[in-house]
Amino acid sequence: MGKGEFEEVSGGLRGLMKRFFGGRRMERLETKLERHRILLKLSHSLSEAGGLRHLLQLIADQTGSFLKAERAIVFLLDRKNSELWSIFGEGEAREIRFPADRGIAGSVATTGQVINATDAYKDSRFNPEIDKKTGYRTRSMLTVPMKGKGGETIGVLQVLNRVGGAFTEDDEELLLVIASQASVSVENAIFMDTRRQMFENLLKALADTIDMRDPTTAGHSKKVMEYSVAIAQAMALSENEVLVVRYAAYLHDYGKIGVKDAILLKPGKLTDEEMDEVREHVNITRRILERVDFEEELVDIPQIAALHHERLDGSGYPQGLSGEDIPIGARIIAVADVFDALTSKRHYRASMSREEALTLIEEKSGTEFDSQVVRVLCTLMEEEAVISSA
Ligand SMILES: [Fe+2]
Repeated sequence: MGKGEFEEVSGGLRGLMKRFFGGRRMERLETKLERHRILLKLSHSLSEAGGLRHLLQLIADQTGSFLKAERAIVFLLDRKNSELWSIFGEGEAREIRFPADRGIAGSVATTGQVINATDAYKDSRFNPEIDKKTGYRTRSMLTVPMKGKGGETIGVLQVLNRVGGAFTEDDEELLLVIASQASVSVENAIFMDTRRQMFENLLKALADTIDMRDPTTAGHSKKVMEYSVAIAQAMALSENEVLVVRYAAYLHDYGKIGVKDAILLKPGKLTDEEMDEVREHVNITRRILERVDFEEELVDIPQIAALHHERLDGSGYPQGLSGEDIPIGARIIAVADVFDALTSKRHYRASMSREEALTLIEEKSGTEFDSQVVRVLCTLMEEEAVISSA
């Protein structure tokens, strides 16, 4: 059946149903069907959101289009600071915060009641400050509460300036249903973000314990992480690959926890045996990290971290891997590690300038180091895209 024929048949069917059910019942049926379509579309989109910020943007975009509103905003309740907050704009998104009882959003968050304001500026609860900050002019405004699993308010969902008039009772019902679906996704995203933040803090604490053993290497793990992430992003690695590089770089030297102080802090030249013991740190890093039950997309972390002393020509350790047998993440960390080591002061030598360090690294580009990684680092340094916290 062609598209035209289908429309003809479905139009005829609609006419028959209209006669059978009556005009108003048919309208209600169509409204219900439309809502199901909207919620299906919303639930599909929400399932694809990556991270809380992206999710908030997605909810706002979809809600605005479903409600025929010029704009939609999700305000989340920050109970600790008694504030409502939201993100505005894409890319360089700005965060906006205000007291949790302020404005119409604040009233809805406090009372849990829907507010449908036909003309916001005539409503005494309206707070015009956000319009001032964002350069926007609010006319009609519909605000509903967002409730968590336990029934507590977690934020509010607000639509502004309905195209072609004020928001209707049907709009109120629809926005409440959207808000309840969005709340589930928001709660899950907050949970995931908190978990990830805890995980990051734990990794940071672990990395700091290593850096603190030797005052001359203080901050090394963090700087290697910053350089590595900047290189990985400039090389357009996927978001997940960048995350793996980030964590692996943070923990690349963690195995040094198993190297004796007498060797790790020895000011003079190391004997061959002592050198072997220092080199063992990469295997210790791997063994320790393999005990961490990383989620599926992060399982490569122990491997990437443990291969940061491999060299392109096979002269590295511990496995003497060469070329593309060394994962790209490890090739990136290798360059970042050497660059930070050269530009930092060590107890056996002074620090080099960035230019001197890059010249030294470039000499080994294509032999020991991945030439693309070296090129990217040089470009980043020229653009000063990496802000070192040294
Ligand atoms: Fe190392």
